[in-house]
Amino acid sequence: MKRSHAIFAVSVFLAIAAGAGISADAVAHGMWSGFSGNPERGKEAIKRYGCGSCHVVPGIRDAHGRVGPKLEDFGEQIYVAGVLPNTPDNVVRWIMNPRDHSPRTAMPDLGVSKEDASDMAAYLLEK
Ligand code: HEC
Repeated sequence: MKRSHAIFAVSVFLAIAAGAGISADAVAHGMWSGFSGNPERGKEAIKRYGCGSCHVVPGIRDAHGRVGPKLEDFGEQIYVAGVLPNTPDNVVRWIMNPRDHSPRTAMPDLGVSKEDASDMAAYLLEK
């Protein structure tokens, strides 16, 4: 492939990734391989499940609970709740079953579906 073609192919890929709400940085680090979550749907799911009663969630006006940590700049955090390395899959695991990973945590198992949890993770990691 000519160099200009290679650059074009990479730009197209990054444009698609950006459209899917995935940062070039995350793609470069291979974090998102095999992960699919829709941040727009995630935002709606976060409202629907009432996560904001316990968390400050950026971009969601009524999400100002102070029971749990603020979920601001969450993508930059190294661990999820101090127990799981912060990867998209682990955020999904945490949201679905926090007490499997941290038995005494105050965050309840809310019966979140895998699809909803993936969408929420995409939203939170992007913010
Ligand atoms: C009853 C209160 C409560 C509700 C409701 C709740 N959480 Fe939590 N959440 C917590 C607490 C408390 C922690 C801190 C857990 C720990 O460190 O053990 C936490 C931790 C987290 C973390 C890890 C934060 C970090 O800084 O590592 C994420 C992500 C998270 N919650 C997402 C959600 C999502 C998404 C929902 C909605 C489906 C939700 N939470 C609902 C109380 C709650």
